[in-house]
Amino acid sequence: MPDATFHFPRGFLWGTATAAHQVEGNNTNNNWWDWENQPGRIIKGQRSLNACDWWGGRWKEDFDRAAEGGQNAHRFSVEWSRIQPTPDRWDESALEKYAEMLRVLNKRNILPMVTLHHFTDPLWITEIGGWENPGVVKHFEKFVRKTVEALKDSVSLWCTINEPNVNTLEGYVTGHFPPGKTNIKLATQVMANMVRGHAAAYKAIHEIQPTARVGYALHYRPVKQARRWNLLDKLASKIHYHGINMAFPSAISTGVMRSIAKKVHIPEAKGTQDYLGLNFYSTFHVKFDLHKPGELFSHAYFPEGSDLSDGGFNANTPEGLFNAVKWAVRTYPGLPIIITENGIECADDHIRPRYIAQHIRQLWRAVNYNWPVKGYFHWSLVDNFEWERGWTQRFGLWELDPKTQVRTKRPSADLYAEICEENGLSSHMVRKYCPEIFEEMFPE
Ligand code: FCB
Repeated sequence: MPDATFHFPRGFLWGTATAAHQVEGNNTNNNWWDWENQPGRIIKGQRSLNACDWWGGRWKEDFDRAAEGGQNAHRFSVEWSRIQPTPDRWDESALEKYAEMLRVLNKRNILPMVTLHHFTDPLWITEIGGWENPGVVKHFEKFVRKTVEALKDSVSLWCTINEPNVNTLEGYVTGHFPPGKTNIKLATQVMANMVRGHAAAYKAIHEIQPTARVGYALHYRPVKQARRWNLLDKLASKIHYHGINMAFPSAISTGVMRSIAKKVHIPEAKGTQDYLGLNFYSTFHVKFDLHKPGELFSHAYFPEGSDLSDGGFNANTPEGLFNAVKWAVRTYPGLPIIITENGIECADDHIRPRYIAQHIRQLWRAVNYNWPVKGYFHWSLVDNFEWERGWTQRFGLWELDPKTQVRTKRPSADLYAEICEENGLSSHMVRKYCPEIFEEMFPE
């Protein structure tokens, strides 16, 4: 059979995504470091410690890996607690380090995308109540202004807040993230303040840098109702779907945040995005379950026979990415879309090559509808500290031994490099890296 290639439009962004706390190491002045030090918070009592030692300088060698892997974009985050260690102090040397990272990326023709908030808060913010406190919005705006002023010469693609929905859900509903609360009313309050923080950041960035492109990254989770004719499953799926996906987007499109608990008017949020960042991992099945009051009786799971990741945390459900883009196009006609995260945890790399190939193929389908998808960032460049799951989940194209800091290339890194260099996915690549799906992808 002759070679076939799923080509992408010229200028498509191919990158990887990382986040400060997960890669830098020794972020001792934020709420996550504190959380890691509390017994029982992180699986096996693991801690971020040196992480990938980016703060110690290893960002440079990892950027080399990204460049050699043909990537033309990279998404990373800056750490608020480093830039503003106390309310009245800016650390210019931290800003200078980020500026250097940006210069190096640009020099290598890797377009930087900077996230301003990726789950962590400085301890002094936690002490005043974190995002429960509406006063945090002003503090966040101030931090954003300072950071954008300092870095604007080298970056114009900004992501204000990463996954405000996951941050709120895990911090205030499941209690897996700090501050470990389970209180829906507080969750709504936090989400609303994050919407306000995003809107304030959006306006501040545009004031300082009119040409900036500003958005946020939404964790979008498509949901399938488990039993088709079951009304309780229908209700449970709706609750789950809306609870996870819709609060933030509703506020940005209408100025009214519709959480499952109540509506909150935030008119200043309306229209505050130049693109939509979508983080997609898996589609979940949802069924009504009386034994899960903590999940509002809507239990999310993967059905038997799913193509599961190492610990069953994610499943390989590639059409979900297509559905995510379809939802975005319908919700925000004409708005550019960037896949800001997509990936799967797998230490021995047996599932990742096919996960990548199948997701890229679904993205190609979306692009061929002329839907304005502008780029794809794989999570992640190198194994890093996976929040409450510690080091038990390995998402990297490169494997990391956090003790020795030795990096080892996984086959997926080569596959992804070929995709980036080709600006597309070919039958040759699929045959080489994931022959098990060749027939399904390229039927005779
Ligand atoms: C996302 C987070 C990211 C990483 C991936 C696996 O929810 O944004 O930091 O942990 O999951």
